[in-house]
Amino acid sequence: MLLTTKEIFKKCYGKYGIPAVNVFYMEEVHGLFEAAQKANAPFIVQTTPFARDYAHPKMLIAMIEAAAKIYPKVVYAVHVDHGVEEHIYDAIDSGSYTSVMIDASHDDFDTNVARTKAVVDRAHAKGISVEAELGVLAGIEDDIVIEAGKSSYTNPKDVERFVHATDCDCLAIAVGTSHGAYKFKGKQGIQFHILEEIQQRLPEFPLVLHGGSSVNPEEIRRINNAGGALKDDAQGVAMAEIQKAISLGVCKINIATDTRLLWTRVVREFFRDTPEQFAPTTPGKVLMEEYVKFMLNKFDDFGTT
Ligand code: 13P
Ligand code: G3H
Ligand code: NA
Ligand code: ZN
Repeated sequence: MLLTTKEIFKKCYGKYGIPAVNVFYMEEVHGLFEAAQKANAPFIVQTTPFARDYAHPKMLIAMIEAAAKIYPKVVYAVHVDHGVEEHIYDAIDSGSYTSVMIDASHDDFDTNVARTKAVVDRAHAKGISVEAELGVLAGIEDDIVIEAGKSSYTNPKDVERFVHATDCDCLAIAVGTSHGAYKFKGKQGIQFHILEEIQQRLPEFPLVLHGGSSVNPEEIRRINNAGGALKDDAQGVAMAEIQKAISLGVCKINIATDTRLLWTRVVREFFRDTPEQFAPTTPGKVLMEEYVKFMLNKFDDFGTT
């Protein structure tokens, strides 16, 4: 059943988290939908600007809609991740998306409000939910690099004014996570004092955590044992921190890096161990199976029901 993110968040708020997973290619769409059907767990499938450039927006929609027919029991939302107006209005017109993110977080407060409000007006007219962002995450997102010095935590004093002025349905906040495989320089983790103050000011309002990958050290080790050269300081968000964030109002946890690492591990190990092979479908099958396992673990860890 295709729902809006607003509908999904009503049920999960404060109780369990919803994985929001970026998809680029067919095998991960299969893996995601198959795992969700097995676990009977709601999820959000999302597409980025990079995915549009890579696969074409029509291909992304076609894969997602095909998967929904193959796995008819799933409960899910289709969401535009890190959208700009052109992508968002395309998605709204396509009739295939139930949720969009307008990422005007790099603009000043008033411009962010104005751009977000314009998107909200057009999205709400079609019953589509809107995620907005306040605060700037550090890290690499597809090919956009934000230096740590240019990032900034969400100021809790701004959140009520922002939500009131824009009428957005959920809010992405910057509370210490970053995009990519190198999230923290030391052990700082999520800034819970900021998250707690945001929740106090926005009780019952769904929050979104970008940069939600765990960057499992075992996965890094296996990639490097199979010829990879990821650096030692690869580090993600501890699951206990994500679970605590869920209890503090984080409903949506964005994941992209973990599934990229999964692909890298499966493909590298496959060709290390069977260098005589040359069929993409053989590692592709392994990839789908591993993806299902990965998602089942996420649903379990996030308490998704
Ligand atoms: P990760 O880099 O932690 O996977 O975060 C992805 C994300 O926030 C996509 O919007
Ligand atoms: O935000 C969307 C990107 O695909 C995230 O990429 O895994 O490098 O953070 P990342
Ligand atoms: Na998003
Ligand atoms: Zn993000």
